[in-house]
Amino acid sequence: MYKAPRGTHDIYGQMALGLEKLDEISRKVFKRHNFKEVKTPIFEEAALFTRSIGEATDIVEKEMYLFEDRKGRKLALRPEGTASLVRAYIEHRFDMEDPVNKYFYCGDMFRYERPQAGRYRQFTQMGAEYFNNPNPTADAEIILLAADILSQLNIKEITIHLNSLGCSNCRPIFRQKLVEYFSSINDLCEDCKRRLEKNPLRLLDCKIDSSKFTNVPSMRQCLCDDCKNHFEQVQALLKGAGCNYVVDDKLVRGLDYYTRTVFEIRSSAVGSQDAICAGGRYDNLVKELGGQNIASVGFALGSERVLLAAEKTGFFDSIKKDNVIFIAVADEELVIPAFTFANNLITNKDNIIEKLNLPKDIIVEGPFLNKSLKSQFKLADKIGASKTIIFGKTEYDQGKILIKDMSTQEQVLINLH
Ligand code: HAM
Repeated sequence: MYKAPRGTHDIYGQMALGLEKLDEISRKVFKRHNFKEVKTPIFEEAALFTRSIGEATDIVEKEMYLFEDRKGRKLALRPEGTASLVRAYIEHRFDMEDPVNKYFYCGDMFRYERPQAGRYRQFTQMGAEYFNNPNPTADAEIILLAADILSQLNIKEITIHLNSLGCSNCRPIFRQKLVEYFSSINDLCEDCKRRLEKNPLRLLDCKIDSSKFTNVPSMRQCLCDDCKNHFEQVQALLKGAGCNYVVDDKLVRGLDYYTRTVFEIRSSAVGSQDAICAGGRYDNLVKELGGQNIASVGFALGSERVLLAAEKTGFFDSIKKDNVIFIAVADEELVIPAFTFANNLITNKDNIIEKLNLPKDIIVEGPFLNKSLKSQFKLADKIGASKTIIFGKTEYDQGKILIKDMSTQEQVLINLH
């Protein structure tokens, strides 16, 4: 028997409804902040990711799904959305087309990670990228936008971790301090030893060695005046908006394109994979990938992790019950008019939904053949129908049908035409 590949899931039932609802809520929030949707392909040239995410990152070193197509092109399933959005931004000259460059995306990402609760090989991200705005207001807007989505989902137990990684002027100083610091520590794990020269910042969130690191140099001590100012203004804007956060010197992120602000939103309601959303500023990436000098900032939230957190606050209970209308026939002779009636309801022919005073978003089920009226009622109950419309011979001959309210059991006779 075949099974879904390790780290992937079939999405159905409650989870499918949850993802739909999350999508609906996030879209509303994105649009209110004037972000427009962009859909990019799920695979790209592999080099796009290697170049943007960084060669010495976990994603590029060991997590990409790489393949060659029939013409030998080296492709990769996207492990994240930012690189693709930047590629699309440059390719279509959004900077020339749009006066404001704010975009959002929603889609599946692929990483060959060790699966566990909240960590999958195929997962969904909803993300936003704000291009062409170097000002701290853009960083603050991005963080508030992410927080806004989480608050609309009633996810309250979150902590926003904030840090600045500086720029190409001040980061090398920090980097040098880190190399000196880590070189003085014995018995680093193999990954840390390997990364020490190539990517010393990554050592800061090593899960194996972190307990050995005390009094680590912090980026904050090394920030140049411009970066320091920028970071202070981001914080002042967040404070002004009443947004709580903690400054976290150890936050370095797993992708190399960041400059200045980085952040991660963690939820205490999920297990060890507690980062439900993350992002930051990437002022050099557009240029590095062949575009103009365009400073940008963005984030992505992991939909599955967000739903794990939302589950704890009753999100799934709040998903409105569907308005299912069940069409029952008491006499098989009436199947044709009942079937026609069901189809008229589905297509809302002649505004029948409004005329019968039914809810706008109805779902129609039935009629069924070869079932007693009793078993039709049972089925209506099982699928949670709010109303059952009954075609009975006597009533139908008088041009009428019965509408039964399934919660009160009350029945009303109405004219069919
Ligand atoms: P990231 O931190 O790699 O950042 O991923 C963002 C979020 O995606 C994580 O916080 C987590 O919720 C979710 N996520 C990541 N990996 C997995 C996984 N294996 N299974 C389930 N969920 C996962 C980025 O991807 C950046 N592109 C964010 C960004 C946008 N920065 C600037 N703009």
